[in-house]
Amino acid sequence: MRIDVVSIFPDYLAPLGLSLVGKAVAAGTLDLRVHDLRECTHDRHRTVDDTPYGGGPGMVMKPEPWGEALDAILDSAAGRPRLVVPTPSGRRFTQEVATELAVAEHLVFACGRYEGIDSRVMAHYADRFEVDEISIGDYVLAGGEAAVLVMVEALARLLPGVLGNPESVVDDSFAPGAMAALLEGPVYTKPPEWRGLAVPEVLLSGDHGRIAAWRREQALARTERFRPDLLGDGA
Ligand code: ADE
Repeated sequence: MRIDVVSIFPDYLAPLGLSLVGKAVAAGTLDLRVHDLRECTHDRHRTVDDTPYGGGPGMVMKPEPWGEALDAILDSAAGRPRLVVPTPSGRRFTQEVATELAVAEHLVFACGRYEGIDSRVMAHYADRFEVDEISIGDYVLAGGEAAVLVMVEALARLLPGVLGNPESVVDDSFAPGAMAALLEGPVYTKPPEWRGLAVPEVLLSGDHGRIAAWRREQALARTERFRPDLLGDGA
């Protein structure tokens, strides 16, 4: 998979060189290219923003640098990549959306700052990209970069060969299947007793049926407590 990220703070994406995503890049599973939007400006101040038409607070990102940056990416692309624009006014990012993005051949993330990117950029590219505006949650960040870190980490662990144990994905909270719409319950490792706290006996029993039933019960209890909305009836 190829991923391009365009930002005025390319250093913000440095964590993508670490851990799981970093390993996927090193292994060649992920072809990650980070671009500095300011390299597509041609004035002395390297201006990327201007005041909004219609008035109002804040600044809007100018379309011209975006046009130049995205044209250059398209010139080196095959097919029709997905253009993901992180924005609090987009559709909500979920595990299902991560799964959707993980099967793309080429993703391009356009990180907006300030009040966002001039809307004509998304309109202009609708025929050459599959344009997707996505929010990672109901809160406002200062820019799209942190949202890109979140989305890339979530989708990269779904790529074949990225996780050491592909089974890990199956039991995830929000994973499709048996645990669908349930939060994952508590987990334990050695030692069997730590500071007076024992690991639940059932987990040491070796009885896989009992263990599976207990895990499901725990997942349900946790979901009822923290996310009753996932159980459908608000109970
Ligand atoms: N940019 C600012 N806030 C955001 C959010 N909640 N999700 C995605 N991108 C954003």
